[in-house]
Amino acid sequence: MTSWVLFPRLHLAEVEDQTWCPSWLREHSHLALARMWRTSNSKNGSPATQACDILLRSLGGPAKASQFTFIDACAGAGGPTPLLESTMNKKLAAHGFKPVDFVLTDLWPDISAWEKIVKKSEHITYVKDPIDATKPQRLAKPGSKECRIFNLCFHHFKDDGAKKVLASAIQSTDAFMIFEMTHRTIPSLLNTTIVILSVFITTLYDYYWSPFHILLTYLIPIVPIFYAIDGYVSCTRGRTACETWDLLYSQPDVDLSEWELSSGEQTALLPFGRLYWYAGVRK
Ligand SMILES: C[S@@+](CC[C@H](N)C(=O)[O-])C[C@H]1O[C@@H](n2cnc3c(N)ncnc32)[C@H](O)[C@@H]1O
Repeated sequence: MTSWVLFPRLHLAEVEDQTWCPSWLREHSHLALARMWRTSNSKNGSPATQACDILLRSLGGPAKASQFTFIDACAGAGGPTPLLESTMNKKLAAHGFKPVDFVLTDLWPDISAWEKIVKKSEHITYVKDPIDATKPQRLAKPGSKECRIFNLCFHHFKDDGAKKVLASAIQSTDAFMIFEMTHRTIPSLLNTTIVILSVFITTLYDYYWSPFHILLTYLIPIVPIFYAIDGYVSCTRGRTACETWDLLYSQPDVDLSEWELSSGEQTALLPFGRLYWYAGVRK
């Protein structure tokens, strides 16, 4: 069932998009998001494993998926990619296909987080230089199809930037997938509230040794205030499927004749965490 959208889209400012945002604050929230992607509290598995199923289904099954290289275009601290890669490659192996590769890129590369990830998987690499998702280049090896994935980041783009992101995907790749968990809906606003409050626990997990982080979470609550601003602003920036596809339909020079667009949503994290997805695949 499609969630009820409460109010028109707004593009308010997120702290993490500002050049003055300290990198430690950005990294703090990206680690928490990566943790959210891995959290499994239902028989359907974590949001990351559910995202893998959606991706496989959208691409047309394991045989078709095995032809792709997957580019995580706004990777943050890695988001779902480590789990997406291991789940995807296990499923491909079960069907007799070779493993596929994943590449992490971002406008603000988090090299220290990515180094830890690539050490654990020979099928994940990263690009160390900043790549702006509104001006990307094709990264898949010759002979491999490219699928660009946008995890919890498409709402960062204003309509002009979002149009460029989608046009570039249509013109220079073979598939794209957008996953979002923030939206102008009641379940997303409630899930975001849980994520904001979870900072009081995740800080202990990730930074229990750091008086700096403990001080700025529990005594001077800069970290929770940052989570609240960016979390709720992210919700106001969510797009419906119609609003997303209109960004393509409004560009007459973008040829969609070979493309199939689809979308959907499902509860990926109980009780409120809806995963919204928007897929484009070259037929
Ligand atoms: C909310 S974080 C999501 C991180 C990760 N994908 C996840 O799911 O946990 C949004 C990410 O988008 C990146 N980003 C924002 N604007 C970008 C742009 N123009 N090009 C590339 N990355 C961008 C940010 O640096 C940040 O890492």
